This record gives sequence, structure tokens and C-alpha cells, in this order.
Amino acid sequence: MFHSYIKACGYYLPEKIVSNDDLSKMLDTSHEWIFSRTGITQRHIAAEHETAAFMGTKAAKKVLGPEGADLVIVATCTGDHIMPSTSALIQSNLGLNASAFDVQGACAGFVCALSIGDQFIKTGAYERILVIGVEKMSKVLDWNDRSTCILFGDGAGAVLLERSTDDTSKIIDFNLFSDGKKKDLVHVDDVLKMRGTELFRHAVDKLGTCVETMIAKHNLSADNIDWFIPHQANLRIIQFLSERFKIPMEKMIVNIDECANTSAASIPIALGRACEKNKIKRGQKILLEAIGSGLVWGSVLLDF
Ligand code: ACO
Repeated sequence: MFHSYIKACGYYLPEKIVSNDDLSKMLDTSHEWIFSRTGITQRHIAAEHETAAFMGTKAAKKVLGPEGADLVIVATCTGDHIMPSTSALIQSNLGLNASAFDVQGACAGFVCALSIGDQFIKTGAYERILVIGVEKMSKVLDWNDRSTCILFGDGAGAVLLERSTDDTSKIIDFNLFSDGKKKDLVHVDDVLKMRGTELFRHAVDKLGTCVETMIAKHNLSADNIDWFIPHQANLRIIQFLSERFKIPMEKMIVNIDECANTSAASIPIALGRACEKNKIKRGQKILLEAIGSGLVWGSVLLDF
């Protein structure tokens, strides 16, 4: 029987950093307000040449070995074009002989894409899959709206999923949900619009249930999970989950302070940075969870 496991993870963040103080020079806001409500101190903002394909390619190069990959799946809601897909551009940039398609699950896009990649490997269809989360949120933000533009950043994260028959490192399970009736809570027409307080309530409720269901299904408790990698939307949502499930904050991978909300890129960036700091070790149990526009939400349980 085939499993998929994360062989490598990496990320790319644009060079330009915009601090809360920088924003307070152009908007009626302050570092104190932003930090106390969200935990964010800065965000990376892409330059013109740092397109979604550019950032995704940079992240992918960190994880790609000489064997390459057979499929490129990109989770993004801010791809470079409506068509072609950003994944096709990345496939070409990398010179891969591979299939490619994009997945649109907004902030939950990476858990959707990882779940899809896992299925393709389990069926034997593919042996190596690049799963990338990339967003250039800055291009869909209203930079005059202080209630939304302060929340987001740009960047990319990538993992290489590989086939294995060994049981020690593997994606164990996923759960995915949606409720399109909540479509107005966060959406992009010309720019991103959000009903933040309502979205916050749904986020804590739905992520809580999703984590609870996954843990119960596998007869685990929060104690058995080594690392939780939550979508980085708001530190207060992460703290709420930590209190509800009695998960010490030390077991939560958090980088919202430095990266803000990078939507579909947030989990792979957090994973990549944690691996770089040697926090995460092989064999450890990890739970990823995210919610975003749709609403779409879900989690992935894995042994790293
Ligand atoms: N600086 C100063 N004041 C501000 C700012 C700002 N940047 N933004 C809003 N305010 C003001 C508001 O105008 C309001 O003033 P008023 O009371 O005079 O009307 C006051 O602060 C309180 O605003 P709220 O919106 O009630 O603040 P809240 O405590 O709810 O925090 C926040 C807002 C941070 C957006 C929060 O609701 C949140 O994080 N929501 C969830 C976001 C999320 O989960 N996003 C993920 C999904 S996004 C995706 O999928 C693309």
C-alpha cells in the first residue's frame, strides 16, 4: 500500500517588509491597534517582478530534488492570470515534465491541495508531487481600508510529496468542509471585503469542530500531537484554539507576527520556517488546519 509523505519543505518571502508603523504613516491606524487585535507586527509585500509564479518557483526550487516531480498543484486565489494557471507557469519555469493545475480554496487552499496530492499518490497515479501555496494578496487589497489591508501579506511555501511504503512518515488523514451560504463574510470583487467580527466567530467555531473531529476519529488527544500548524489569520484565533483544546502555545507554530495572513501560503510558509529552525523532527505528529473564503475549512493530520 502506498502512502504519501512530506519529503521536503521550503518557502519564499518577498524582500520588501512593511511594518505596522509604515502603515500608520498612510492610514489612520497604529502599531498598538494592529498588534493587540491580530498579533501582526509586519508583512512582506511583493514587488512587481515577484509574481505568484515567481514566488512559487522560488519556494519549489528549495524542495525539488534531481528526480523532479510528476505533478504541480498550486493553491492560490491570487494567481497571475485567470488563465493560464499559475501551476503551469511554475512547471515551465522549473522545466518539469509534469501535469499542473491550480486549486482555489482561499486561505484553506493548501489543506485542500495537500489532500488532493495525497490521493493521487495513494492511488499510484503519481510518485512525486509539488504542492505549493502562493499568494500575492497585496494586489487585491484596498490600501485605503484599514480594517482589511493591515491583515495580509505575500509569499509562497512548497512541499514535495513523495510515494512511500514505509509507515513512519505519512499523511494520515484529512477533513474538508464548505458552506457557500457564508460567501459574503470574505470575498474579492475588485478588492477584498471582509466582515471581520463575524468571520472571527465562524473561524473559532468551525476550526474548533474540525480539530475536535479529527482528533476524536484517531483516538488521539491534543497531548498526542507534537505540533499544530494553524492558518495564520489572527493570533487571537490561535490562542482561542490553544485554550479550548488545552494546547500549550509552545506547540503552536506561529509566524503571523512576521508574515501576517498569506492566505493559502500561510501553512507551508509556517511549516518551512519551522523546519528551517529544526523545530519539527521526523516522526512527529502534526495537525494542519485552515479556514478561508467560501467558507471552506479543513485539517490534515500527518506523521512528519
Ligand atoms: N486601526 C485602527 N482602528 C481600526 C482598524 C485599524 N487598522 N481597523 C478597524 N478599526 C476600528 C473599526 O473601525 C472599529 O471602530 P468603531 O468601533 O469606531 O466602528 C473598531 O476598530 C473595532 O473594529 P472591529 O472590526 O470590531 O475589530 P475586531 O476586534 O473585530 O478586529 C479583525 C478586527 C482583526 C479584522 C478581526 O475581526 C479578525 O481578525 N477577523 C478574522 C479575520 C480572518 O480570520 N481572516 C481569515 C480569512 S480571510 C481569507 O480567507 C481571504
